[in-house]
Amino acid sequence: MDIPAFRKSNIWWENRFGYEVYPRTFFDSNGDGIGDLSGIKEKLEYLSKLGIGAIWICPFYKSPLIDCGYDVSDYFDIDPEIGTIKDFENLISVAHDLDIAVLMDIVPNHTSDQHELFQKALADMNSPERDLFIFRDPKPDGSAPNNWLSVFGGSAWTLDEKSGQYYLHLFYPEQPDLNWRNPKVHSMFENILRFWLDKGIDGFRIDVTQGLYKHEDLPDTIEIKELPADATEEQKFANMDDQYYYCLPETPLVFENWKRIASEYNAVLIGEMVETTPKRLAQYFNGKGLDLVTYLASSRIFWEPEKIVEVFDHAEHNFFGQITWMMANHDFSRTVSRFGGENIGLQRALTTTAFTACLSGFPFLYYGEELGWEDGLVNTKDARDPRAIRFPDSISEGRDPVRTNMAWSFGELNQGFSASQNVWLKSEDRKEQDCVNAQISEDTSPFYKYNEIIALRKQIGEIANAPLAEKQWIRTQRFIGYQYNDLICGMNVDDDVYKLDIEGKYDLIYSSSLSTEKTDINQENTIVFPPETTCVYKLRTN
Ligand code: BGC
Repeated sequence: MDIPAFRKSNIWWENRFGYEVYPRTFFDSNGDGIGDLSGIKEKLEYLSKLGIGAIWICPFYKSPLIDCGYDVSDYFDIDPEIGTIKDFENLISVAHDLDIAVLMDIVPNHTSDQHELFQKALADMNSPERDLFIFRDPKPDGSAPNNWLSVFGGSAWTLDEKSGQYYLHLFYPEQPDLNWRNPKVHSMFENILRFWLDKGIDGFRIDVTQGLYKHEDLPDTIEIKELPADATEEQKFANMDDQYYYCLPETPLVFENWKRIASEYNAVLIGEMVETTPKRLAQYFNGKGLDLVTYLASSRIFWEPEKIVEVFDHAEHNFFGQITWMMANHDFSRTVSRFGGENIGLQRALTTTAFTACLSGFPFLYYGEELGWEDGLVNTKDARDPRAIRFPDSISEGRDPVRTNMAWSFGELNQGFSASQNVWLKSEDRKEQDCVNAQISEDTSPFYKYNEIIALRKQIGEIANAPLAEKQWIRTQRFIGYQYNDLICGMNVDDDVYKLDIEGKYDLIYSSSLSTEKTDINQENTIVFPPETTCVYKLRTN
């Protein structure tokens, strides 16, 4: 596969806006009720109209779907429900013709328990495959080797009854952790990278980048504080000191190695990183490993103005400008829902997303955000995410409501998502104004407001990516922005106007406001940021 023209330039992603696709619910091209790769291909024109320059597709490997694809049983093949290698190649080729880069997930912390290697490890305790995973004897009283918890609830250890040993899984028991202390795991992933790079992929989103290596001795960890008796599984996990299983010093070295491979193709490596300390982050950003990280704090915050300013400020100043900005993703509530719902939530979602277009790194939208969507409605009996099914009291809804079917066409069966009577994830239909066809024909719709944000990125991407220290930052408790040359970008999250005194006369070149009321911007030496709005101003030269 030829390298596309854009990949010949350095840091080719800088001025692009990315878009995360959840493949099973995006578009079903063959009428079996499940979204597929050919379906994504058919909708690339739509993404191109939106202005998208790259898509990241959530896992489409062969998988028993315990964790909706993040449990991979074959890294060299595609789940037959989603497509074939040929479909993948066709998708890449059409995307590249439209100047859209294609990124995929790679899942290195764990496999599926159905993976051939884990099956061999279970079958024979003395097999070489056994050491590809983390098996340990129980404590003398028969309990798990240590007190680590799983992200998804319960112990991080499951007993393999046949051998009497436990195996480690930071996620579901069906997702056994790999043993990165075994060199064969390294070579396996290097082969996986090359396999997909040779098929034309433009980069990877790396799952659980902070995981991989675990402390050699697997010591017990400590609880950070005392929790109330009714603490949720999520709270319990978050309350454990993670130093023995997250961000071990060996882990970033894996990505230095991967970078050497990715560089041969000029492909991008984006790591998924939970919020972490500047010291830990510095290990990952030594210029030799990951190109970027997804900053999860921005996709988890609620509308707490001071906190929002803090989150943006922290990220800009600690992640070396290497952020994949996302206000939402497949794991958390949608931005409009988190920010108050309806028009007010939409206004806030636009404001924060527009500000990501002004920052360094690589901003992304999650599918459906461009339509101003709130979380969908999925009946408990139709849930697909085991998080909702296994711990219903603790983690109430699971992640299905943010993964509902794309609504292409109001009035059609499944709103145009699929011709099947039986779709994979059943959910309540969207309202007419939330469907693509309605929004495309209405030039004041969220689709066009997001389209403007993406256009803004193209226009000011170079400035957004200027070195942090060269920008003059302006920060109050509820405002954050910067001046760079003749441009001023700022986000006002206060419910009152923010006025900035500044010499000269500035013209408004972008505003995230949904209101059609005009702000008086022509005052000499003052520029105005309306409540809960991101604006970009340019100095008038004549
Ligand atoms: C992915 C989740 C997944 C988990 C385990 C994550 O961070 O985003 O969807 O459940 O990794 O693979």
